[in-house]
Amino acid sequence: MTNIELQNLLKGMSIEEKIGQLVQLNGKFFDTDEEVSTGPKSKLQLSRDAISKTGSLLNTFGSETLKQIQKTYLENSESKIPLLFMADILNGFKTVFPISLALGCSFDFEMVKRTARIAAHEASACGMHVTFSPMVDLVQDARWGRVMESYGEDPYLNAQCSKAMVEGYQNDPDPSKRILACVKHFAGYGAVMAGREYNRVELGERTLREYYLPSYKAAIDAGCHMVMTSFSTVDGIPATANEWLLKDILRDEWGFDGAVISDHSAIKELIDHGVAKNEKDAAKQAMQAGCDIDMMTACYANHLKELVEEGSLCETQIDEACMRVLKIKNELGLFENPYRSVDEEAKKEIILCDEHRSFAREVVTKSCVLLKNENHTLPLAKDKKIALIGPYAEYGGIFGMWSIVTDQESVVSLKEGFANMIGQENIQICKGAAIMDQGSIACFGGVTLQVGSDNPEGELQEAIEIAQKQDVIILALGEHAQQSGEGGARGELTLAKTQMRLLKEMHKLGKPIVVLLFGGRPLDLREVEEYCDALLVCWFPGVEGGNGIADLIYGNANPSGRLAMSFPYSVGQYPMAYNELSTGRPVLPTTESKRFISRYMDIPNQPLHCFGFGLSYSTFVYKNVRMDRNTLHEFDNIHISVDITNTSDIAGWETAQLYIRDLVGSVARPVKELKGVQKVHLLPNETKTVEFVIQEDMLRFYTRSMKYESEAGEFKVYIGCNCEDVLEASFTLEK
Ligand code: GLC
Repeated sequence: MTNIELQNLLKGMSIEEKIGQLVQLNGKFFDTDEEVSTGPKSKLQLSRDAISKTGSLLNTFGSETLKQIQKTYLENSESKIPLLFMADILNGFKTVFPISLALGCSFDFEMVKRTARIAAHEASACGMHVTFSPMVDLVQDARWGRVMESYGEDPYLNAQCSKAMVEGYQNDPDPSKRILACVKHFAGYGAVMAGREYNRVELGERTLREYYLPSYKAAIDAGCHMVMTSFSTVDGIPATANEWLLKDILRDEWGFDGAVISDHSAIKELIDHGVAKNEKDAAKQAMQAGCDIDMMTACYANHLKELVEEGSLCETQIDEACMRVLKIKNELGLFENPYRSVDEEAKKEIILCDEHRSFAREVVTKSCVLLKNENHTLPLAKDKKIALIGPYAEYGGIFGMWSIVTDQESVVSLKEGFANMIGQENIQICKGAAIMDQGSIACFGGVTLQVGSDNPEGELQEAIEIAQKQDVIILALGEHAQQSGEGGARGELTLAKTQMRLLKEMHKLGKPIVVLLFGGRPLDLREVEEYCDALLVCWFPGVEGGNGIADLIYGNANPSGRLAMSFPYSVGQYPMAYNELSTGRPVLPTTESKRFISRYMDIPNQPLHCFGFGLSYSTFVYKNVRMDRNTLHEFDNIHISVDITNTSDIAGWETAQLYIRDLVGSVARPVKELKGVQKVHLLPNETKTVEFVIQEDMLRFYTRSMKYESEAGEFKVYIGCNCEDVLEASFTLEK
């Protein structure tokens, strides 16, 4: 449709129809009257007429189901405006990739983009139109369960992944293979106080802008069509009713002209936040703030018309919101073809096809992070007899909480992956321990999973008997998938006691121990590392997890993942990130023995493993850092180079990282900020020169006057394999 045609369509719509476009329900409302909702349960008081005018559905799957719903809907629709189908497709559709935090550890933005493109291909063939992704909430606290959905603690890394995901979803040359992106959760949700889900967010404007907003802006700049508001407050005002966020920043500063959707029930939750008296007040505040679509409450459906009639809202506000929704449907071509790209033939050809699977397997190898490898325990020789023990030895629940359309049977478990690699005959397998301790509970969607073991002693004994007969013990440990994700905040970040007991008993056998760690967050691994020889963080690796991990363990692939989020020494360090401020009493070699400095008395400030850290089977040496000049002016740039040598006999990928420090600013500046990444492949004993370009715009920040600009002065520049192991140089910015 042309814009004129859209305008005419809007003019011809009743106010009830326009309001209907601003309501989103799930598919259950279209086949039964039964109320179904995720998030806070609330009985929606919706009329059949209001439901019949709904503009979009969420998390309803099955191309036949969607076609039928669309068909029935259009038959009963006055204006014949097709439904929009949206869903949480975060790390793949049917071909499920490693979780987002794992993708961030790849530092491979083209690879990240391709995961989104494949997700779009599969999802669009199955009738999906929009994904509630990318989730780009910067995170500094692994107590928050949703760190698994983010790309970690760094603004640059989050922004690069955000851009890559939006481009992957939206830019396929074939429009029928695209889905539209909805970046979330705007804004600053990752900073929930104490890592507790749905909790308040207390950030100064400068911190919000410097650390948390860049990733959302990167999505908008990449053409993202939708934004989802966060559940949390920002400075006491819920994001869903926060005009400063939704209008001043999103619309006026950034020029965003797409649609804003609330998070699930978030408009009605304005009442729970204590900022709205009732649903009518909530509807008014959310619409006035700039929230276009009401996800899964009746606030808009039941109150917007009355608010317009009484003059509390203008009908133009409804019209503008409705037009933004119509434009999204038009962008997808739904007016011309409401069934768009549902394509049974395409589905058969591409869903979980070999090409997608082999790419997913490659993604696993590039997103796992090797944290320990004493005495070259890894890679293993294929003739070694292994004991594959642990709750994840053959359990296929390795795809993370938001992989909601995953076919469990499509997942390659560790057992299958290792058998594919070395043959079943070389493997002895047993569970050894449960994922969670007896009596622990894991909640998901209101269902409480009583996990634990009813025979812990027997399981342990079986593990000891098996391990004694084999050469190497591989322990597949970790947290349960339902222990992270939404609602998965944890106050303790250690492995279950039952798993630690297994590890310690295995250690007594005096054989090499390789720990494969599954989970959706950094954990406190101090004790785990004491009792193992090698440790590979596997995250939740998705459908090709077993094969990809086996590739790494047996050297078919060389680990290249680098931590997108620090692993803490202790949960007591949170919130924590490498790009912190110095403080007035920093810990320095000259001060660390003193009392009155910024540090803990009982634990170090430094994490167990820092941002950017990750081992390889190769060894890379950085040397000879050099710059073509030491003074930078506004319109030129500095070229900085370093030579990296692979001093091992194994080829591998290195991820060179560029950090910058502004030594003196009108406000305190981070001790380091990631400003560039380059992946370089090095053959044994090969040396390559890696070059970065430093430009003035990389040095800009929100100065004391809140202007986004650089300031003249001295800078340090660091290049290295992580945020701590770096070579250093200096330059001056002259203005
Ligand atoms: C959830 C999540 C959000 C998701 C939405 C729809 O509560 O917060 O990330 O996209 O509801 O499922």
